Amino acid sequence: MTEVSKISPTQLLESLRAIVGDKACLDALADMQPFTTDYRKLYHGKALAVVLPATTEQVSEVLALCSRNHISVVPQGGNTSLMGGAVPDAAGDAVVLNLRRMNQVQEIDSVNDTMTLQAARAAAETAGRLFPLRIGSEGSCQIGGNLSTNAGGTAVLRYGNMRDLTLGIEAVLPDGRIYSSLRGLRKDNTGYDLKQLFIGSEGTLGIITSAVLKLMPLPSATAVAWVAVKDPHAAVQLLTEAKRIAGQAVTAFELISGPALSLVLESMPQWSAPLPDAHDWMVLIELSSGGDAQTLDATLMRILEEGMAGGLINDAAIAASIADAQAFWRLREEISDAQTREGGSIKCDISIPLSKVADFIAQASAQVLEMAPDARMVIYGHMGDGNVHFNPLRPKHASAAQFLSEHYVSVSRAVDGLAHQQNGSISAEHGIGVAKRDDLLLCKTPVELELMWQIKQALDPKNLLNPAKVLPAPSAAS
Ligand code: MLT
Ligand code: ZN
Repeated sequence: MTEVSKISPTQLLESLRAIVGDKACLDALADMQPFTTDYRKLYHGKALAVVLPATTEQVSEVLALCSRNHISVVPQGGNTSLMGGAVPDAAGDAVVLNLRRMNQVQEIDSVNDTMTLQAARAAAETAGRLFPLRIGSEGSCQIGGNLSTNAGGTAVLRYGNMRDLTLGIEAVLPDGRIYSSLRGLRKDNTGYDLKQLFIGSEGTLGIITSAVLKLMPLPSATAVAWVAVKDPHAAVQLLTEAKRIAGQAVTAFELISGPALSLVLESMPQWSAPLPDAHDWMVLIELSSGGDAQTLDATLMRILEEGMAGGLINDAAIAASIADAQAFWRLREEISDAQTREGGSIKCDISIPLSKVADFIAQASAQVLEMAPDARMVIYGHMGDGNVHFNPLRPKHASAAQFLSEHYVSVSRAVDGLAHQQNGSISAEHGIGVAKRDDLLLCKTPVELELMWQIKQALDPKNLLNPAKVLPAPSAAS
């Protein structure tokens, strides 16, 4: 039976204010609204209060208070989840705990968890180092959110995702206890690697308040090309060739469909396409190295020449300057927001073994077009990782509400089902949140689900931390 809170809302607010201060505890509807609505404006929740603690101790005290009084807490970083993972539901009985005030660099290789990703990258660069995580929402997402969702992005191919980039974390447990592994060790085989439990758990097991992150040497040369390929099969072959020729220097290899680029250009008419003609499929390739620019440019040229000779490439533009390279990347990174401006697409975030990814795109596209014949096929993503953002968008003549209500469930089930059948994942890097929660039942074995529930029960026995996220309700499995 769920235990009911005995503290009155007024007492709760007084206690929260005593911990974080008056200004850092919001309870007016208008003040709370930016924290209770998700990034894509598809989930509109309610909260008892929004608190913005400034220290780990304050986070701990808030969680202990809420735990004693059986009040749920929804942790939030930059509120950029694409799966509704960072906002409360409409019940209005949870406290949102936003971590944006905890944004100091403690040491150059150790950042507090909610510093924006952009600030973390800038701090590393000032010290002549690279923090290599690169995602489109860099200016607003926060390191804590990146950790809690195990964020990936455009440089995973070279550097790995957040799990690979983290040496240690500090996390506050649902009852207020503090777990810490901030020693910055590259080797530590003393039993279970507990930090990995919290990374990727979307704030359901603890709130990450600090982290030690890995830094890399800053590359001294980069070379970027926008390439029209024959089809996704050719893209995969070109990737194989690029890795053979350039090895570790292949830093990013992004696939972009024609409709994805058109969408961006329609909403940003002042930007121009890198190539004179329209193409069905393109890739954005970035090489980087610690060597000299001429050698890297020659390596990129060789990849393109061999790709042309092998019939994989239809056309290509090489960035002649940093400004060109930034313009190419801006087109790629705008795809996500361009969809939001159209009212949101059907978000499928698939990963598939590289050997099957091109066939998957063809099969999934055929299935979706049978169900929603006029949908715009906004397909793009991190081809180098076998990660496809497969996002059918409403036809221009239909309203977003009509398209999404008619097709969201059936289309995402079909696409996710196909991915699952082919040993793929239904969430490569966006997490589960609330949007894909019940879909876990389709893709996890009973043993996996049972273990996940047991871990949740062990760390959060009262089920107060980010409730109703990630894990399907146990009853839903029967
Ligand atoms: C991206 O690769 O642009 C991000 O994962 C965001 C998105 O797909 O919407
Ligand atoms: Zn992505």
